[in-house]
Amino acid sequence: MSVGACYFPEHWPSEQWERDIEQMAEAGLEYVRMGEFSWGVLEPERGTFVFDWLDEALELIGERGMEAVLCTPTATPPKWLVDERPEILQTEPDGTVRQHGSRRHYCYNSDAYREETKRVVTRLADRYADHPYVAGWQTDNEFGCHRTVRCYCDDCAASFRDWLQERYGDVESLNDAWGTTFWSQTYNSFDAVDPPRPTPAEHHPSRLLDYARFSSDSVVDYNRLHVDLLADANDDWFLTHNFMGRFPTLNAYDVSADLDFVSWDSYPTGFVQDRKQTEATTDQLRAGDPDQVGMDHDLYRSALDRPFWVMEQQPGDVNWPPHCPQPGDGAMRLWAHHATAHGADAVLYFRWRRCLEGQEQYHAGLLKQDGEPDRGYHNAVTAASELSAVGDAAHVDAAVAVVFDYDSLWALEAQPHAPEFDYWELQETFYGALRARGVQVDVVPPETTLEDYEAVVAPALHLVTDELANRLTAYVEAGGELLLGPRTGVKDNANKLRPELQPGPLAPLVGATVDQHESLPPTVDTRVRRSADADQQYGFRTWAEWLDLSTATPLLAYDTDGIEADRIAATRNAVGDGSLVYCGVWPEPALADDLVTSLLGRANVSHSDRLPDGVRVAERDGRTWVTNFTSDTYRVHTDADPTWIIGDAVVGGFDVAVADAPLVERLSVQKLE
Ligand code: GAL
Ligand code: ZN
Repeated sequence: MSVGACYFPEHWPSEQWERDIEQMAEAGLEYVRMGEFSWGVLEPERGTFVFDWLDEALELIGERGMEAVLCTPTATPPKWLVDERPEILQTEPDGTVRQHGSRRHYCYNSDAYREETKRVVTRLADRYADHPYVAGWQTDNEFGCHRTVRCYCDDCAASFRDWLQERYGDVESLNDAWGTTFWSQTYNSFDAVDPPRPTPAEHHPSRLLDYARFSSDSVVDYNRLHVDLLADANDDWFLTHNFMGRFPTLNAYDVSADLDFVSWDSYPTGFVQDRKQTEATTDQLRAGDPDQVGMDHDLYRSALDRPFWVMEQQPGDVNWPPHCPQPGDGAMRLWAHHATAHGADAVLYFRWRRCLEGQEQYHAGLLKQDGEPDRGYHNAVTAASELSAVGDAAHVDAAVAVVFDYDSLWALEAQPHAPEFDYWELQETFYGALRARGVQVDVVPPETTLEDYEAVVAPALHLVTDELANRLTAYVEAGGELLLGPRTGVKDNANKLRPELQPGPLAPLVGATVDQHESLPPTVDTRVRRSADADQQYGFRTWAEWLDLSTATPLLAYDTDGIEADRIAATRNAVGDGSLVYCGVWPEPALADDLVTSLLGRANVSHSDRLPDGVRVAERDGRTWVTNFTSDTYRVHTDADPTWIIGDAVVGGFDVAVADAPLVERLSVQKLE
């Protein structure tokens, strides 16, 4: 369990490197990440490479017992390169070229850029192949940040056509799969298919889905170029990439398949502001939302089913969200523990020292710009010593899986059918309900072996192939407990409506079909009641399906006087040794809790009492972390008498406690006044 930092020696006069790196070692850091935006410094003009600054920094790092993570510097092609080969630039849908002057301005499908990438990566890899202090590499930096997964240039148009040809073979098959007779969209050749550029009305949903897949695949391919070159130079290096939080346009599972482990960049107080539907509470502005961050931890851990890293951890206030509050006292330490509890083996703070120049002067570092400790520094020092006291921990073992499907996300993004319909947010509703019961969750793609889990939750599996339907059915027949959310089984793999009623090939497993669906704004009264107990009512939001039953039994019915009155909203079907619950609405938290606790009960998965918002427990390798993302103080009750490695049963605001025992079963948490 280690702590590290991201460092930019190139931003500082060389006389300061020794002091900076000395301080890192004193702080207990083990890893220093460098170089991700350094192309312009490494190669100030074509063919002239300047490595001495990096050599010297590496030496200083190694001499102090730390190791370096280097990055391929391709996120920022320098000005001379852009001037020489402007065809490497990205293009927006309307044809606007994204110019040099910030970052990520290159196209993944540019042959010119791939050539340049090969050149610079090979040069770096050869230079450091035998270096004793380089532990591994990060490829590029945050693929897709600033909406850069999808490019609409001519190179991308050509690559898209090749990609389609590969997928469909002949153009008739494409026409057939997409359904192009609608609005005269038939294509006579692959050459006729363009990227989805601006149109008067909405685009064809099948074309949008394939463009989303193609764009994500383009990044996978571009990442592989880095990986192959680096692995050729030295097989022992680890290779990783730093993904982003709640990031919707890149299939992280696909990219990860080429990596040794997954990393991601966690900025909790920004994420609650710029990628969440609800207004952030004051506590969330100070510490973020443990479930929002937790779901990313779990997704990235599950991508390779092994420990991950947080490659960039928020160090203090940041510069990019709408508002930039100071994190709560201790929050930077809390986040490191929370990540570790979810399976991180290392947490690196971004950045070591606030910089004097460029776009991020308003972004904190662990040190202030004058080199003196900032608020985050003290937190990082504490985290480093506490995590080494906790010691190594094996991988997180989760009994429950939440199925996360990028294809369904992209299909629903093309046809949300309600401004509030957001796939990620819906996933978090179910995920959050499980985490509020202290349950460890893997967030897995649909291809995963479901039999590894006692219970599986799949919200909005919008695209369902026969193959997937068969696997889900086999899982339940063999005793699995499955919970499906709304909008499941609507489309085929090309994002075309299935001829049979929703949930399509899952109808026999569900034991019901969808007669009608509707989306509803927040102004409408949306209520269901339990079929077995009319006094038990719950709220839902955004989406409602009216179910017709065949073999299923009703669980919930609409509880209003409207046209939907008494129609069935959720069902349960016993199949083989297991059962299937289908929930046709987007549940409010109380209903989500009811659904997941009955699921856990049927699957014999132990869980805690319902935890307060912002307080979460997690188990890893026989230890329990209690993390408090609120400013209130809580007491942990358990009938075990654990040894507390960190803190104790009273957990203050933005504080954490770690016990040397698995505690989730029968644990409860109570607020102290
Ligand atoms: C990340 C990025 C870093 C830095 C940071 C600021 O997205 O990888 O380079 O910009 O955000 O919070
Ligand atoms: Zn392009």
